Amino acid sequence: MSEHNDSMKNQRLAEYFILSMIIAIGTPVCLLWGFQNGERMGAKAFLSNGQNSSVISSKTSMEMFLSSTHNIEEGKELFQKNCTACHGEQADGKGPAATALTPPPRDFMNPDAKWTRSREPQDVFKTISEGSPGTAMPSFSASLAVKERWALTHYLGTLPGMKGQFKPVDEATARNLAGETP
Ligand code: HEC
Repeated sequence: MSEHNDSMKNQRLAEYFILSMIIAIGTPVCLLWGFQNGERMGAKAFLSNGQNSSVISSKTSMEMFLSSTHNIEEGKELFQKNCTACHGEQADGKGPAATALTPPPRDFMNPDAKWTRSREPQDVFKTISEGSPGTAMPSFSASLAVKERWALTHYLGTLPGMKGQFKPVDEATARNLAGETP
């Protein structure tokens, strides 16, 4: 009988031992895992937090809204690559594809041309991004980056057809568009 009791005791001891080993090893492993995971989540939250990410990217995003010489030059190149088939190399709406189109592509050299949207920078950007529904004017949101569409907007703003109708984006307005508070 006592022999049986002893073996019971030994089995208990063995069980306690295994249990305490699980706690002794498992706790730090879990803590470490939880800590690392928490750190990753923290880093993610930091990067996706609107304010922090705007601090990181504010320089580039503010600059793309600016009607600067640099952006205008970039827009001019992009126009020659993407827009001349319809709008023409001279931006006068006389591209090789123009004769086949109704309504015809906009003539950016003519201040009296009728426009679907306003010639304000944000509306021009919108047209380039979304296209003009029901016409041949395509959407460029998939093929050109936001920055490139803004560059095109700044370039178009320098053409005679925009005279007095396009207010070049100055630094204060660019900051506003970038969602920065002064
Ligand atoms: C396949 C032909 C085609 C191409 C390519 C094209 N456009 Fe157009 N675009 C048109 C047509 C047609 C219109 C006239 C749309 C209308 O009457 O609403 C137009 C109109 C516009 C307008 C004036 C919209 C308004 O409010 O009246 C802008 C700005 C413009 N295009 C910019 C561009 C830029 C920038 C590119 C190159 C990135 C480009 N387009 C490429 C055909 C084209």
